[in-house]
Amino acid sequence: MRNYYIAGNWKMHMTRSEAAELARTLVAQLKDGEHKYLVAPSFTLIETVAPIVKGSNIGLGAQNMAAEPQGAHTGEVSVLQLKDLGVDTVILGHSERRHVYKEDDALVNAKVKLALQHGFEVILCVGELLEEREAGRAEAVCEGQVVKGLEGVSDLSRVVIAYEPVWAIGTGKTATPEDADAIHAYIRKVIEKTYGAGAAEKIVIQYGGSVKPENAAQLMAKENIDGALVGGAALKADSFVPIAKFGR
Ligand code: 13P
Repeated sequence: MRNYYIAGNWKMHMTRSEAAELARTLVAQLKDGEHKYLVAPSFTLIETVAPIVKGSNIGLGAQNMAAEPQGAHTGEVSVLQLKDLGVDTVILGHSERRHVYKEDDALVNAKVKLALQHGFEVILCVGELLEEREAGRAEAVCEGQVVKGLEGVSDLSRVVIAYEPVWAIGTGKTATPEDADAIHAYIRKVIEKTYGAGAAEKIVIQYGGSVKPENAAQLMAKENIDGALVGGAALKADSFVPIAKFGR
């Protein structure tokens, strides 16, 4: 039985005081929550949020990291620096990194391996563009991103996959629960091919893309949808808490 995992990707939003207030509210309102939770603030907010979520049932994530542990990489943030702040999870391969900042599968894969080597949990994001879906290539695109993103990774116990169709991110257009579930099931098959049925059964696959309090329960009801990676609706406790406590 997989545990539901609801994560908030705060993207490039909030100041320290706003982040502290949201984190405090979430800690208070989710303390009786039954699922696994995470918030991923901007790098500059992590030190503020860390002591607030410490000891709570909300994990602390980062939204990206460099592919090298240290060195001359102006503007990048390293796994060692994140570890130093108490971060234990990193979101990698987000579509905004892939499509806006041109991160390719090889770079994402290098980051995934480095994060795992340092004991982090990884949320590997995959998902197709609208034109890829319309061309009937959604499954192939996701398969390629999963396989290449995990190349050389033998143990999936600290890997979560987030299926985020790019056309559903920040657009208000959610994949139907049926469409999302079909891709999740396909991703599970892809995992089964390389890692076996046990790993495929265990791996948590989140859905991301315009998840809201109104659609969370229908999405989570699907057999292969094990949680959510939430963007816009994660910025307010009023919308994130009902998603995190869906069905109650
Ligand atoms: P929205 O929930 O704003 O569509 O963003 C989804 C996302 O990209 C989470 O990583």
